[in-house]
Amino acid sequence: MDSVKNDVTTYPAYLAGKWQTSESRETIAITSPWQHDVIGKVQAVTQSEVDQSIKASKKAQHAWASLSLGDRGQYLNQWANELEKDKEAIATSVMTEVGKNYDDAEKEVTRTIDLIRYTVQEALHMHGESVRGDGFPGGSKEKLGIIERVPLGVVLAISPFNYPVNLAASKIAPALMAGNGVIFKPATQGSISGIKMIQALDRTGLPTGLLSLITGHGSVIGDYLTEHPGINMISFTGSTQTGKHLSQKSIMIPLVLELGGKDPAIVCHDANLDLTAKNIVSGAFSYSGQRCTAVKRVLVDDSIADQLVAKLKTAVEKLSVGSPVDDNAIVPLIDNKSADFVQGLIDDALSKGAALITGNRRDKNLLAPTLLDNVTEDMDVAWIEPFGPVLPIIRVHSVAEAIEIANKSNFGLQASVFTQDIDKALEIAGAVEVGTVQVNGRPERGPDNFPFLGVKASGMGTQGVHNSILSMSREKLTVMNLK
Ligand code: G3H
Repeated sequence: MDSVKNDVTTYPAYLAGKWQTSESRETIAITSPWQHDVIGKVQAVTQSEVDQSIKASKKAQHAWASLSLGDRGQYLNQWANELEKDKEAIATSVMTEVGKNYDDAEKEVTRTIDLIRYTVQEALHMHGESVRGDGFPGGSKEKLGIIERVPLGVVLAISPFNYPVNLAASKIAPALMAGNGVIFKPATQGSISGIKMIQALDRTGLPTGLLSLITGHGSVIGDYLTEHPGINMISFTGSTQTGKHLSQKSIMIPLVLELGGKDPAIVCHDANLDLTAKNIVSGAFSYSGQRCTAVKRVLVDDSIADQLVAKLKTAVEKLSVGSPVDDNAIVPLIDNKSADFVQGLIDDALSKGAALITGNRRDKNLLAPTLLDNVTEDMDVAWIEPFGPVLPIIRVHSVAEAIEIANKSNFGLQASVFTQDIDKALEIAGAVEVGTVQVNGRPERGPDNFPFLGVKASGMGTQGVHNSILSMSREKLTVMNLK
């Protein structure tokens, strides 16, 4: 790593087992979303370096896969220990680079350490099965099928800016435990934190070339990686638009896609409104709404809507707004373009008659948390994912209407249902087209041993530790013909 003027560090890429500057001699500047200064530069890796990295990963993968699970697990446990030592530095990097407040950034690193250790344990406790061939007429007990799980080869792990450490490790750890090599392509904004995380992994003495970390221009290496014949599986978290593009470009390999959402909070007339308001506010506004699982619309029964709106207003107005270094709840968005986009949704809704309850103030990319009431179906904010601190409230007159509007969305990640009637909760849970329904709680991915999936435009395949290991391995059948 070399420092250049203004203390801006130029970070190397980790290619085929070596930290190095790219042959392109080109770097990409990373600007902090709240310091508004360049905080570092990362390498613009070339296509030929991608080739070399994939080749090295393939080569190292065979020996890696032949290690015992226990031995692979030792590397990963050591990685968790190294991350523990670097926790403060990595959390500070997350805060500086993606503007997450320090407390949340530190929680992200802790969650990652726990996830890596859990992944090791989960892999150690997964096992194959056997089957006899006598299930069909004329079949024979003498045919014994031994079903094992084997690695896929080289996994391409693409992580987003909003969890630069956790959503990277939640792909890398299961890929490695399943016996794969890894090409890790972090979102450019977030790649410095990713580099620090991989420096910790490198210190474990991971076999040379098994994992490479590639930074660069999407236009140069994006499709090149996706279409590369050396890649055997892609695990991607990011926008629906990019996810669709990946699924068009990749060729006959498994894909797991975690994409956008428009998670509704359905509030029934008998809901506990204090609990509901608390969950909606934390669900909608944590990290300024920059979470795929954020509450992105409220569908509330008109009979209790005034009461709920009053409680939401009080709670939202208590949210602190400002720099992440002061642990504010609402922090600047990742860039100005994102703030412009959210502002556009607010302006559109207000021009069409939505009622502004609170918010709609802006300082560059820092937006005050904004509550909009009386949102109707003709407004963009009713359907489009803002990835920012704006929450539309749509008043409904029945459970059926809430379900209908919930399901009209292109997205299907999670939904929350607030009611004290368990039968109604189960009825709604059964009717909404999403991956997960939370009863009396906010949408969220964790705990990380739960399956995590989206349907429709929200994704494909299932994550969560167990499912990630499954999706990064395949069945292999060996049939013993005993006589
Ligand atoms: O942004 C997408 C993440 O998977 C959300 O994770 O629910 O733990 O915040 P989270």
